[in-house]
Amino acid sequence: MDRRKLLKSIGISIGGTLISTKVLARMADNSFEYAIPPNPLFKPMAKPVTAITLGAGNRGTVYGNFAAEYPNELKIVGVAEPVKFRNDKYAKTHKISDEHRFVTWEHVFDKPKFADAIIISTPDRLHYGPCMKALAMGYDILLEKPIAPTEKECRDILALSKKTGRIVAVCHVLRYAPYFVKMKELIAKGAVGEIISVQHFEPIEHTHMAHSYVRGNWHNSKETTPIILAKSCHDLDIIKWVINKPSKSIVAMGDLKWFRLENAPAGSTNRCTDGCKVERQCPYSAIKQYYEKRDRTGVLDLPEEKSKQGEVIMERLKTTNYGRCVYRMDNDQPDHYITSIQFADNVTANFSMEAFTSYAGRRTRIMGAMGDMVGDMTELVITDFRTGKLTKLVPKAEDVEGYKNSGHGGGDWLLARDFVQAVAQQNAALLTSTIDESIESHLMGFKAEESRKNMKFRAIKM
Ligand SMILES: NC(=O)c1ccc[n+]([C@@H]2O[C@H](COP(=O)([O-])OP(=O)(O)OC[C@H]3O[C@@H](n4cnc5c(N)ncnc54)[C@H](O)[C@@H]3O)[C@@H](O)[C@H]2O)c1
Repeated sequence: MDRRKLLKSIGISIGGTLISTKVLARMADNSFEYAIPPNPLFKPMAKPVTAITLGAGNRGTVYGNFAAEYPNELKIVGVAEPVKFRNDKYAKTHKISDEHRFVTWEHVFDKPKFADAIIISTPDRLHYGPCMKALAMGYDILLEKPIAPTEKECRDILALSKKTGRIVAVCHVLRYAPYFVKMKELIAKGAVGEIISVQHFEPIEHTHMAHSYVRGNWHNSKETTPIILAKSCHDLDIIKWVINKPSKSIVAMGDLKWFRLENAPAGSTNRCTDGCKVERQCPYSAIKQYYEKRDRTGVLDLPEEKSKQGEVIMERLKTTNYGRCVYRMDNDQPDHYITSIQFADNVTANFSMEAFTSYAGRRTRIMGAMGDMVGDMTELVITDFRTGKLTKLVPKAEDVEGYKNSGHGGGDWLLARDFVQAVAQQNAALLTSTIDESIESHLMGFKAEESRKNMKFRAIKM
């Protein structure tokens, strides 16, 4: 970062193509810090888009926080949320009148349409019902991924969105992260020549795995969705998006190897708080993660007063799944998962999802006939084989999810902004993750899971 000079906007030449980008700084090692300039198709809004949030948990709050920060763009006018603490907090933040506060999603649709859009941030198994109902009533929809747990349900939503002409934006937030936006743009402009293959790696980080897929909401695939959709539909989607060719076949392997009863150490107990003899040495100790490090405590519904939080955390560890031993859960999600995909024109991709890493942040390598790209979401390095020139791009974006290493690279709010514009202008083309764009990567996920379970290649048919 030494001798860094502020620049406004320059053209960087990569692979014989001039890439015009908003460069914020040129660093000493000749790398460029850049941001994605505002979309020229955006129009000033006469009034904010109004939306009703179904599910005021983590994701409902991410989009709600966008509305709170940009009240001229998005206004939340209703909420459905069964957890009273969350419903109260959300209603207070957005000043939602009592008549527009509901316990579960169905009740929203008992009233005539009272907003422009519906934000569906309910658990995975509660996307299909509200989405079909909202489409039938003429709402535009911001739909959390995964679209739905079965291929049929995904196709039903696609068909109804086409029939009604409503916008369904799937929250494939990585498509809006400046890092991936630039990767896609560079490939499309020929910076590495014809794309031959892709390697993509998703290190989940061991404590995130324990939190979400061993103890947390997605620990059981039958109650939610298989991890290849619940976690990695983003990754399949990014692979498909940058390759930009139809997927043809897929094969997958992986299983749940470690978080099983037979690996429980001697002296361990049902809960970390039950006097476990190995809790101090255990990397998955809930006491360490939630009480000592205060990591990912958003799920514990803590009071705002900091002095009371410790006591509430310990109480939650005694009563919720978040305090249970990681070797004694009813979990079934694989902790390592590898997938190989063949695309049209014999382009290939390999994807690995790994629980056992000390770090997060997706890594991608793109191999092209005239150059390659290597990136880890903090920087993207492009080497042009023709000139030998190396260009390093460093994305700058606000990552708003609030979790350490959340990895969405700014995509959460950038998606929210594009969605609001798309609804205001009634123009789905302002989005890159409409349902018809997003469905193929879900089909890849369903076929990968079939392949993993049956140990067979699976063909993909759109
Ligand atoms: N795009 C992403 O990167 C991303 C990241 C995390 C989660 N997700 C997805 O977003 C969705 C929500 O995940 P989350 O992390 O916010 O989970 P969460 O548990 O924090 O929030 C879901 C909320 O829905 C509420 N709910 C349950 N039943 C309901 C009902 N019948 N009616 C209304 N609300 C109900 C729950 O009480 C909860 O508050 C999931 O589908 C998840 O897979 C997407």
